[in-house]
Amino acid sequence: MDSTPNVIAGVGLADRPRKSRWPARMDLAQSLTGLALGLFMWGHMFFVSSILLGKDAMWTITKFFEGYFILGTAYPGIVSVVVATVFALVIVHAFLAMRKFPANYQQYRTFMGHRKLMAHEDTTLWWVQALTGFLLFFLAAVHLYQMMMHPGDIGPYQSGERIWSGGWGPLYIVMLLAVEFHGGIGLYRLAVKWGWFEGKDANASRKRLKTLKWVLTAFFLALGVATFVAYAKIGYQIRDQKGAVYTPSWVVPNPMEKAK
Ligand code: HEM
Repeated sequence: MDSTPNVIAGVGLADRPRKSRWPARMDLAQSLTGLALGLFMWGHMFFVSSILLGKDAMWTITKFFEGYFILGTAYPGIVSVVVATVFALVIVHAFLAMRKFPANYQQYRTFMGHRKLMAHEDTTLWWVQALTGFLLFFLAAVHLYQMMMHPGDIGPYQSGERIWSGGWGPLYIVMLLAVEFHGGIGLYRLAVKWGWFEGKDANASRKRLKTLKWVLTAFFLALGVATFVAYAKIGYQIRDQKGAVYTPSWVVPNPMEKAK
């Protein structure tokens, strides 16, 4: 049935399907989960890189997250709850992001055609973000499951052993590259999308944001590689002491710990 005359006359307008607000809501949820994960990763990298300040520093940070300094004894289960929360955020973020992936070969060809034609840096950045996001589907899930199920196996020796003798080294190197590019591009695109830090001259602000993005990505990659080498070195030093657990010399054994 031809509805043109009705629309003009206003008849049927009320029956026209209302534009769904869900795509906008899902975009907002994707931005919010992305922001939370991006900021989490900055914190995570500082906590994990505490090994660069020495084994005692990393042991102290690990025990802090296990409630040791507040509850008087360590409860690794606390870390499992935090990991489960981050895992849920990663799953929701990945689910929402899947909407943006080319859904079929035609869409992929069209996107690649545009990308080549426009040779626009931000479009290429989006493609790098999509590829690294796809990689993180798998790499982050493995890491998170390990941390959630074995939260008590975090420490200078256990983490070192995992990287040197445990075969986790290659995963961490690929994941480090993927998460730093994905997170860096993600936070930059969020700032551009929502107009954060935008001065009077939008182009100048975007240029500044892009420079900041590359500086932060370079900083966290350098910190990540230094951290990786530090854990690998410890892992190498204790390669003959499987299952070794590090305890600082100044720690007085807590009788409660023994009772457990
Ligand atoms: C609460 C959740 C998390 C916890 C408790 C956690 C814990 C850790 C710990 C203890 C290490 C040191 C190595 C080891 O012990 O095996 C590590 C390394 C690493 N984690 Fe996580 N992680 C979490 C979430 C994530 C997420 C969501 C990502 C990325 C999507 C990630 C990426 C990495 C990378 C790339 C390394 C290697 C760092 C390096 O050697 O430079 N982690 N993590």
